[in-house]
Amino acid sequence: MSKEDSNPVITVADRGPYIVVNLNKFENLHGRKYLLKPVMSLCRCGESKDKPYCDGAHNSIEIDWEKNSERTEYKWKNYVGDEIIIHFNLSLCSHNGACRDNLPEVFNLDSRPWINANGSSIGNIIETIKKCPSGALSYTINNQKFTEYNYEEPIIKASKKGPIEVLGGVELKDPKGNKPEVKDHYVLCGCGWSKNKPFCDGHHLEKIKEQK
Ligand code: SF4
Ligand code: FES
Repeated sequence: MSKEDSNPVITVADRGPYIVVNLNKFENLHGRKYLLKPVMSLCRCGESKDKPYCDGAHNSIEIDWEKNSERTEYKWKNYVGDEIIIHFNLSLCSHNGACRDNLPEVFNLDSRPWINANGSSIGNIIETIKKCPSGALSYTINNQKFTEYNYEEPIIKASKKGPIEVLGGVELKDPKGNKPEVKDHYVLCGCGWSKNKPFCDGHHLEKIKEQK
């Protein structure tokens, strides 16, 4: 078997689950291991009773499987500091709050602009940006742009409430042609409510609120 044949791959099934092959690390957002199978189907509609795995629920529900024209506009904004430029694209954000929670001096939703690229040390800012799973944050130093973060190995971290974080370079095959912004980290929608499918856009938070 060639190396390519043993690399992990996710295929987006038409009106169905994510089919995952060759994955070696699969856990929840808190690091608890999930059962690994050589071929796994992960829930994409959000209605499986066996999440994160698919139980066939998608066959009996109606959801919008495609990108929605009302999704957030794809637009990069630059936040320029003395030594670093932080790039942010709201349309890619999965709203997990890792930036805000880890470095509120820089990422503060109550401030305008909400990102202050001079708010902390370069080291702290880079460390925090590397915690962003979605590709919504990147940075430039000395005219060199950094978008990929060199994870040790491919890993999928799935939340039963929706987001499926795909880190470390897992190839995504989507017959509809959708590609992640950054190959080595992206977040897939597992709740069925994203307007930017197959990627998460944070709408699982509204779904969770509605189901309370
Ligand atoms: S996905 Fe990235 S930009 Fe969005 S809240 Fe999380 S860390 Fe911040
Ligand atoms: S998991 Fe569906 S929008 Fe985030």
